[in-house]
Amino acid sequence: MEKLGTKQRVIIALCLVMIIIIPRLMHRATEEFSTKYHIHSKINESNTSITLIEGSPHFMVSAFFDHRETETIRIISIIKRDSLKPLYCVYCNTQKYCQVGKADVDTHSDHFGFPFVASDVLCRGKYIHDATHITISTTSVISGNHSKVFLPVRNRQKTDWFRYDFTVCISNLFGKYNNVLQFAQTMEMYKLLGVQRVVIYNTSCGPDLEKLLQHYRREGILEVVQWPINQFLNPSPGWNFEEHKGDLHYYGQLVTLNECIYRNMYQSKYVLLNDIDEIIMPYKYTSLPQLMEILQKEQPGAGVFLIENHIFPKTQFEDSGKFKRLKWNNLPGINILEHIYREPDRKNVYNPTKMIVIPRNVVQTSVHTTLKHYGEVFKVPFDVCRIVHVRVPLQGSLTKEQLFEDKRLWEFEGDLVPNVDDALQKSSLLKI
Ligand SMILES: *[C@@H]1O[C@H](CO)[C@@H](O)[C@H](O)[C@H]1NC(C)=O
Ligand SMILES: *[C@@H]1O[C@H](CO)[C@@H](O)[C@H](O)[C@H]1NC(C)=O
Ligand SMILES: *[C@@H]1O[C@H](CO)[C@@H](O)[C@H](O)[C@H]1NC(C)=O
Ligand SMILES: *[C@@H]1O[C@H](CO)[C@@H](O)[C@H](O)[C@H]1NC(C)=O
Repeated sequence: MEKLGTKQRVIIALCLVMIIIIPRLMHRATEEFSTKYHIHSKINESNTSITLIEGSPHFMVSAFFDHRETETIRIISIIKRDSLKPLYCVYCNTQKYCQVGKADVDTHSDHFGFPFVASDVLCRGKYIHDATHITISTTSVISGNHSKVFLPVRNRQKTDWFRYDFTVCISNLFGKYNNVLQFAQTMEMYKLLGVQRVVIYNTSCGPDLEKLLQHYRREGILEVVQWPINQFLNPSPGWNFEEHKGDLHYYGQLVTLNECIYRNMYQSKYVLLNDIDEIIMPYKYTSLPQLMEILQKEQPGAGVFLIENHIFPKTQFEDSGKFKRLKWNNLPGINILEHIYREPDRKNVYNPTKMIVIPRNVVQTSVHTTLKHYGEVFKVPFDVCRIVHVRVPLQGSLTKEQLFEDKRLWEFEGDLVPNVDDALQKSSLLKI
């Protein structure tokens, strides 16, 4: 073989450069390009509360700017625990320039064994401030003509002024729940106690309750967030995977509770986290504003207030029958005014708590306690405030004599009864 001349060597070297190095450079160039790009069409906003993260089994729910941590956007998400691979945040500004960055995923510690868990996908970086829209991607290489669905970034403005003092978050409405009378009584009771806003996550409900929800929405106190979780997953009707099976704890209750905290972060001074059949009832004071003013003076560092749950069995009726009203006779549901007997504490059984929180103090919450928070937690004494929870008994064998008489609800009778009538009337639920 002839020896190669200098010229040929140069040509071969150049070819090598072209074959090996240039594609690498180009690849790097596209990668760099891909971390920052421009969207040419309009940004597509998700039109549902639950959005699939393309190319993964996970879902994203809502995105919130978090002013408490430096340069962070938190995306409340539902993550399949055994399928967690690296995720990327894509965030875009008003000029539709988008940036891609690696996401941190913080799966909440409470999952009760279910395959899917409430999680925070955390997006960080200096361009976060300008982001109006954000989405989650399974790859970092993205071009400007993709068809991704974005979430608007909420809570971009921090305020010290809140539209509401007290907001109640009802994590879930599902099945054919049609407990109209108890719901109307509970809503009217909340109003008398000083609640100005109620947020309910609706998967489904019964026909009469639907009318009542529409009434309260018209009135302005109620915000209904559609929560069609059953269209995306097989949600569990229970809290424990071993016992109830399914993909996700209790219709996604942990997801909606966290969503509600962030939704109300700059909208409400306090948020009450309780179920649809529970009333957080001040006993020592006449209303929630009075209760919180005193508690906050005594506990200036506290941002999470735990309230004990107490059961009023729906199987025990008060004797006088004075609330067996003809008007309410044909309505579905429990008349809570008839149930004034409270179960005693059980030895060695802890009464579960629900919460009044300052949402700005909460990072992650579970049902009975917060998981991550700022400030102190205060367990409110039983005689100051407790939950009135009318439901099936937990200690069903106890007789009336073994229960405590507790007529706190009756003290509101004068306003409560006509207000309930009015709400039912306006919902076209009263036949007479
Ligand atoms: C949301 O948008 C998708 C795609 O455009 C559409 O198919 C779907 O019907 C919309 N859903 C709702 C609830 O508007
Ligand atoms: C994006 O644009 C490139 C180049 O113009 C094209 O080859 C590709 O098919 C486009 N992708 C989509 C999803 O439209
Ligand atoms: C928005 O959705 C439309 C229709 O699905 C799609 O053609 C378009 O590329 C999407 N735009 C972006 C920026 O994702
Ligand atoms: C609640 O959800 C069900 C099922 O999607 C729907 O039919 C109903 O209209 C919703 N109710 C309200 C008040 O939004």
